Amino acid sequence: MITNTELEYKGNLYPNHIVEYIRDKDKFYFTTDNGVILEITVIQDRTIRFRYATEHTFQPDFSYAIDPDARRGYNRLDIVETKTEYIIETAKVQVLVDKKTLRTQISDLEGNIINEDELGFHWEENYEYGGNTVKMGKITQNSESYYGMGDKATHSNLKGKRVSNWVTDQYAYGKDQDPLYKAIPFYIGLHGGQAYGIFFDNSFKTHFDFAHERRNTTSYWADGGDMDYYFFYGPEMYKVVRAYTNLTGAPELPPLWALGYHQSKWSYFPESQVKELAQTFRDEKIPCDAIYLDIDYMDGFRCFTWDKTKFPDPKRMIAELEEDGFKTVIMIDPGIKIDKEYSVYQEALKNDYFCKRADGPNMKGKVWPGECNFPDFTNPEVREWWANLYKEFMVEMGVHAVWNDMNEPAVMEVPTKTAPLDTRHNYDGHPCSHRKAHNVYGMQMVRATYEGVKKYVYPKRPMVITRAAYAGTQRFSSTWTGDNVATWEHLWIANVQMQRMCMSGYSFVGSDIGGFAEQPNGELFARWIQIGIFHPFCRVHSSGDHGDQEPWSFGTEITDIVRKFIELRYQLLPYLYTMFWRYTREGRPMLQPIVCFDQKDTQTHFRTDEFIFGEQILVCPVQEPNAQGRRMYIPKGNWYNYWNDEMIGGGKEKWVVAGIDKIPMFIKAGAMIPKYPVQQYVGEKVIKELVLDVYYTKGAENSMVYEDANDGYAYENGKYSLRNFKLLGKEKELIIQQFKDGSFITTYETFKIQLHGLPFKIKSVEVDNEKVDLEAIKLNGDNSIEVFKDFTQLHITGE
Ligand code: GLC
Repeated sequence: MITNTELEYKGNLYPNHIVEYIRDKDKFYFTTDNGVILEITVIQDRTIRFRYATEHTFQPDFSYAIDPDARRGYNRLDIVETKTEYIIETAKVQVLVDKKTLRTQISDLEGNIINEDELGFHWEENYEYGGNTVKMGKITQNSESYYGMGDKATHSNLKGKRVSNWVTDQYAYGKDQDPLYKAIPFYIGLHGGQAYGIFFDNSFKTHFDFAHERRNTTSYWADGGDMDYYFFYGPEMYKVVRAYTNLTGAPELPPLWALGYHQSKWSYFPESQVKELAQTFRDEKIPCDAIYLDIDYMDGFRCFTWDKTKFPDPKRMIAELEEDGFKTVIMIDPGIKIDKEYSVYQEALKNDYFCKRADGPNMKGKVWPGECNFPDFTNPEVREWWANLYKEFMVEMGVHAVWNDMNEPAVMEVPTKTAPLDTRHNYDGHPCSHRKAHNVYGMQMVRATYEGVKKYVYPKRPMVITRAAYAGTQRFSSTWTGDNVATWEHLWIANVQMQRMCMSGYSFVGSDIGGFAEQPNGELFARWIQIGIFHPFCRVHSSGDHGDQEPWSFGTEITDIVRKFIELRYQLLPYLYTMFWRYTREGRPMLQPIVCFDQKDTQTHFRTDEFIFGEQILVCPVQEPNAQGRRMYIPKGNWYNYWNDEMIGGGKEKWVVAGIDKIPMFIKAGAMIPKYPVQQYVGEKVIKELVLDVYYTKGAENSMVYEDANDGYAYENGKYSLRNFKLLGKEKELIIQQFKDGSFITTYETFKIQLHGLPFKIKSVEVDNEKVDLEAIKLNGDNSIEVFKDFTQLHITGE
């Protein structure tokens, strides 16, 4: 073993032996002889924070990532001291601190090592900027795998890779290119069937090495700030994500229309083109809920203005679109045009709201409108001002939602693509340079936007979209993965990115369907729509300069396929909404890579393509041209092919037929999938009946359906309808029990229960212990049954 003193000469400094230990309730402080303090805080039984100071001094304890409402509290907390170590124990884990080296080791209560320091904490002093480069070295455990880390466009398992976090405007990025638009320094480790997570809460540029440089080590470091990280114990992966999401927050439930299909382009203008677009959706009978206006609606790209030659009366236009079931979403960028005639610029200048360079002048950079200054969104006063700027748009004009772009911040014509590093920021009263504020700049912009939109659309719910993000941004905004390309490889990237984002606590995410740069052919577009309808944020967007990218742009065969899949999305809305509700409440990732679904099955550890939509639908996109199907891994258990109800057993690879009009899609046996009728937009129809597709299984399975008014806040006061279903299948019997919660009354009175895979002929049906006349419940030839929605038990027997 390498000792700390041996390594000092390599330029790194290490803690030495502990000379003092203090406990303060849930905090433990260990001080070494050479002035390092390790502060361990028990946040929850499975969530432990580790923070290190050098020279006896911590930096102020302030983080944008942590949700102020995060749940805290533990069931048990003890500490014992032995000759060589201190041992902290909670109801889930044991943390050992070595007295000689300050290294730590975390194990479960059976003594299995979960995570262990190798070199542990060390640092290098930074003469140029002051402060330290802070580093952490961990042991890579036997067959350990790594997941998470935000939007990395690389194999889902990060083992053997080195990545960094520095939000970057990465136009037309490629596979393996890094960094991209997001900085989410959170990963999940999996070994020996057990998962844990590490969140390195440091907004400086951070780096992670997953057994890349040395096979047996995993390390992470930052260009400044403190070594400040959180450990989360699973052992299930979804519990790791849940604990991380509890700490950094989940979004509020979006309005249901936000989960519909959205159409965007750079840019739709003038008004007549927007109107024609809207009309074509309705004529073609392709559902759509929102139309996006990219930068060209503005007057000379000045934010919060309209180009009146293109849009003479935005208020009227937005109202007319709304009549027709369309919401209008507009773009707002951070760069404010330097123009002394422009009121937003004048106000910001007068109030000193712009970021400054180290020596005083306002920071300047080129974006769409030419030279711009950039509001310092890390200043709470600036955020408040910014939030209020939305008043006219939201209240007077009726804009429904806002899309924040270029908020890395992107700066054109400079090699760094962003603000100079000496740019100063308020950082909520902890003044700093751009080195520290860069990764949170976009987050603070969209936070201000969210606050404004929320205030002005009230009593409706806000919807906001951002490009740049740091950990925790999911509390404020949905996101998309930036400027991708219309290639098959990018379809693969989009699939991996969405799963990765969901595993990084950020589920409300989508890609530019069809690709932003370049032009997809019809086949690629159709394949992308097929997977895009399974992404929580579902929007077609393109750069617009290569031809059209609307559902009808590729000929009738493709239009029909696209329509069929968008219709499927609308049918699945109650299922998707329930997933979203669980995400907001429980921090459940909305999409799960199959390793999250079954981490014990090592076959899943290196798969990238298959994922679970919610809890019960397995999807695997076709990602190459001219395919009539594909090979895919079916996780263990029984699954029904969605297209033909054929049941197959998992735990193996299979060839699955999927011509251009199908995507490989399977329903977990025992699932009850709720469906709405197809609507052209959310709220078009009063829902008269809820379809429940019931997939028979021998054994038990739980399903749920969450509903409410689809907008507004009444659900927070109990006005929701939650239906928990317990299904139990036997040889010649099927029992479904329902448990209800909430006071929201759904518009429908009946369920249409469609039975799939029933291995027997129905002999009798009992609802709440009363035999029903098979005629009366309309036992249809297709094995469907109509029943009153509030039954508590449905008992079907067969012969
Ligand atoms: C950026 C965005 C893109 C947008 C364009 C023009 O490239 O990522 O979505 O269309 O700017 O506003």
